[in-house]
Amino acid sequence: MTTSTLSDKSNFYLELEDKFGAHNYHPLPVVLKEGKGVYLTDVDGKKYYDFLSGYSAVNQGHCHPAIIDALINQAQTLTLTSRAFHNNILGEYEKYITEFFGFDKVLPMNTGVEGGETAIKLARRWAYTHKGVPENKAKIIFAEGNFWGRTLAAISASTDPSSYKNFGPFMPGFANIPYNDTVALEAALQDSNVAAFMVEPIQGEAGVVIPDEGYLLKVRELCTKYNVLFIADEIQTGLCRTGKVLACDHEAVKPDILILGKALSGGTMPVAAILANDEVMLTIKPGEHGSTYGGNPLACAVAIASLKVLKEEKLAENAESMGILLREGLSKLNSPLIKTIRGKGLLNAIVIEHENPDASWDLCLALRDNGLLAKPTHGDKIRFAPPLVITKEQIFECVDIIARSLKTLE
Ligand SMILES: Cc1ncc(COP(=O)(O)O)c(C=O)c1O
Repeated sequence: MTTSTLSDKSNFYLELEDKFGAHNYHPLPVVLKEGKGVYLTDVDGKKYYDFLSGYSAVNQGHCHPAIIDALINQAQTLTLTSRAFHNNILGEYEKYITEFFGFDKVLPMNTGVEGGETAIKLARRWAYTHKGVPENKAKIIFAEGNFWGRTLAAISASTDPSSYKNFGPFMPGFANIPYNDTVALEAALQDSNVAAFMVEPIQGEAGVVIPDEGYLLKVRELCTKYNVLFIADEIQTGLCRTGKVLACDHEAVKPDILILGKALSGGTMPVAAILANDEVMLTIKPGEHGSTYGGNPLACAVAIASLKVLKEEKLAENAESMGILLREGLSKLNSPLIKTIRGKGLLNAIVIEHENPDASWDLCLALRDNGLLAKPTHGDKIRFAPPLVITKEQIFECVDIIARSLKTLE
């Protein structure tokens, strides 16, 4: 089944999106109507393994019953008060999430990119009020290859022309250094106006780029030494995806600001959070930051349920062991088309080697035809990131699907 041989029903929905929607995405041609656990079903009733998990938002599996129950119950009771008033869920959620991650305070937001924006505002504020950086001189350092969303600040930090080209002018006070380079970090931190270094523990969108062991430890050490905040963007790597609750846990480091999103709602609605201790968090005073929907009762109830599922179902442990099985299975295929297999837990990628520049797209079409959905990132990389509830038997079946699909390109 290629695009041209999609069913009339699928083509109907594709054409609707093409005619009435902005063309800011290039989705794989498949039209989905249902999700349950690790599976998605299309409008023709064909079932697939989901190997993207909504860019790691659906760690708990599609439509997890406990999360959906919490969503429905709260939706029938109270959904939004705005922060103009108190409500009976927000405080409970704030207590739950701060104890879960061991920080003094949380600042609730909606989308991941708002989380990034909030972290940067907090860091700038802290730099002026605590570090003594002169007004408007605060600097934030990022790593090349970063991805944290599509707002003007996020694209100002980006080194990917498809993110920033023709969208300038850009946010001042940002600088980039190479990823996984602590010598460059130490050089950048010589500037006393640096407020923070914001980094993904594993670069997800860049194609699951894993830094050397010890990188995060050294980042922590340098940030402490130079009195600079370490902001960990765990929006994609967090919440058990990499085999630990946080990817930072692999090196037992604690950032000064932790950004979470995506799976904080198990794929049901936009919920993000920024966690920090009082010295940083209390630098923002009433009226200085917020969002109409941030911390709404519905989001809070859903986030508590989503975090509970991660813990009760031991999803970090499952991600760790299933990730090992998946990478072992892939490497046993000995496919000449797979140049690299890398990953941690269930955040994995393969790099495709083929003279056809569209090979990874073609492979994703073959995977789709064989019942598995994945999407290329940056041309030759394909991320394999199923929901963390996947079982051993399912992993074996998926490796088999991947093997059969690779054969069609060989
Ligand atoms: C590491 C990271 N940070 C931030 C974001 C932005 O999240 P959102 O799309 O919810 O704004 C993403 C999204 O893919 C991400 O992977």
